[in-house]
Amino acid sequence: MSKNPIGIFDSGVGGTSIWKEIHHLLPNENTIYLADSKNAPYGTKGKDTIINLSIKNTEYLLSKNCKIIVVACNTATTNTIDYLRATYSIPFIGIEPAIKPAALQTKTNAIGILATQGTLSSELFSKTSTIFASNIRVIEQNGNGIVELIESGKLYSDEMKSLLKLYLEPMIDANIDYLVLGCTHYPYLIPILIELLPKHVKIIDSGEAVARQTKAILEKHNLLNTSNTSSKNNFYTNGNPKIMASLLEEKANIEYLDF
Ligand code: SIN
Repeated sequence: MSKNPIGIFDSGVGGTSIWKEIHHLLPNENTIYLADSKNAPYGTKGKDTIINLSIKNTEYLLSKNCKIIVVACNTATTNTIDYLRATYSIPFIGIEPAIKPAALQTKTNAIGILATQGTLSSELFSKTSTIFASNIRVIEQNGNGIVELIESGKLYSDEMKSLLKLYLEPMIDANIDYLVLGCTHYPYLIPILIELLPKHVKIIDSGEAVARQTKAILEKHNLLNTSNTSSKNNFYTNGNPKIMASLLEEKANIEYLDF
């Protein structure tokens, strides 16, 4: 069982930012990554649709004998993690925007959150925000259009830069000192965000914390792969494999799959 793969799914290519952190921390672990790019973005869809898509992705990963599933999508996590945990017997790891560290460390008492509409309007997000950030100013921004640009290979485009300028303006005006990235596609924006944000603004994403949590849960369930053989990492996408390849630096085993 411990040699079985870690399953990871996302609405598309963004969750590869999480895969990188997991692979970095747990290089011995075999992984299977599923990118549902055909249905991206999830962030504009209703809860029932997001649940159905998450079930479809989960069932595929279970058919490949995954020992744990990382829901590498903030929108899918905030809308479906409770359902998935209640329905299936293997452990699930979810991704939540890192509001807590930003709220605890802000000196200007203002933080920005860039996330999808699906995440911002979820119960889980509003609960986290109320618990950790009720006494500071939180500038929420729906990142409409960003996922679509990344999924169509337009990460470094003028269109992306203009969109980000527009989205960051109210945050800069409010003097934020932390920007929380609440979507797994967004870490790929960091070079552009650094260019557009004032120097004192720190950017936080959840990747490292998710990798640490995955390791802790594997340890807890005695599922860590302790063998020294090199890992197998397979990527499946129902979108364009070339776009996924452009985000994965190392030579990756990427296959088109019609799921
Ligand atoms: C999306 O599919 O809209 C974005 C995925 C995410 O929320 O991480």
